[in-house]
Amino acid sequence: MSVHSDVKRRTIPELMAFKGKQKIVALTAYVAPIARQLDPYMDIILVGDSTAMVGYAMDDTLSITVEQMAAHAKAVVRSTAQSCVVVDMPFGSFQESPQVAFKNAAYMLSSSGASAVKIEGGEALADTTRFLVDRGVPVLAHVGLMPQYVNTMGGFKAQGMNEAAAERIYQDALAQQAAGAFGVVLEGIAEPLARRITQALDIPTIGIGASPECDGQVLVTEDIMGLGEGRIPKFAKPFADVGAVMREAAAEYASSVRDGTFPTLDQCFGVKR
Ligand code: KIV
Repeated sequence: MSVHSDVKRRTIPELMAFKGKQKIVALTAYVAPIARQLDPYMDIILVGDSTAMVGYAMDDTLSITVEQMAAHAKAVVRSTAQSCVVVDMPFGSFQESPQVAFKNAAYMLSSSGASAVKIEGGEALADTTRFLVDRGVPVLAHVGLMPQYVNTMGGFKAQGMNEAAAERIYQDALAQQAAGAFGVVLEGIAEPLARRITQALDIPTIGIGASPECDGQVLVTEDIMGLGEGRIPKFAKPFADVGAVMREAAAEYASSVRDGTFPTLDQCFGVKR
């Protein structure tokens, strides 16, 4: 069921106009029940390829496919009304050539109704961003710690920790802006670099583990709602323990089934919906 309401979905030009005026608020969602809860409070809902790790319990983000991402994006679009839905282009779907990137981006947007794609990459992927933007695909760039480069980086590690590395990330962000990206996610970089990039760019920066100096923030929802498993980043402050609420409810359900207090069919049919 899609959401029908008078609420207008945030547009890319609106988000760009937030720069210097209003912080951009973003969280991830991959499925309808979560997206529905977040929608009234978010400017962007990111259908991140982090679903590979969070939703499919994989070790990294590399194995999720275009088809899987498009299906998740469709569920999120259909269950939201206000947030701009941005979908991650998964590993292998855009690096080969701008043409391949366009084909996959067009499929993901047209099959899901999402408004934009996110691609991990700086200067080296600027031509791809330009190609997509010129053909009607808004691009949110992602620089700094790029999880799709986990094998190159040798793990999920903070980036830009020496002057040369910091300069490369700065140049990556500038190159993506010049190529037409509407915003840049800055992941896993230190505050001075995040501040420098945010001040230099005309487009918004959205940080994740990159300090409050950014123009907005994005986090993985499960990490801050007590639904995460394993490696929860230090910067992901817990805002709720939904996991504990679910465990308690599951235990209560289980004992009602086992001890015979679970509602009978007659009682169920008596419920007015
Ligand atoms: O895949 C993802 O969820 C992301 C964000 C956390 C930025 O890329």
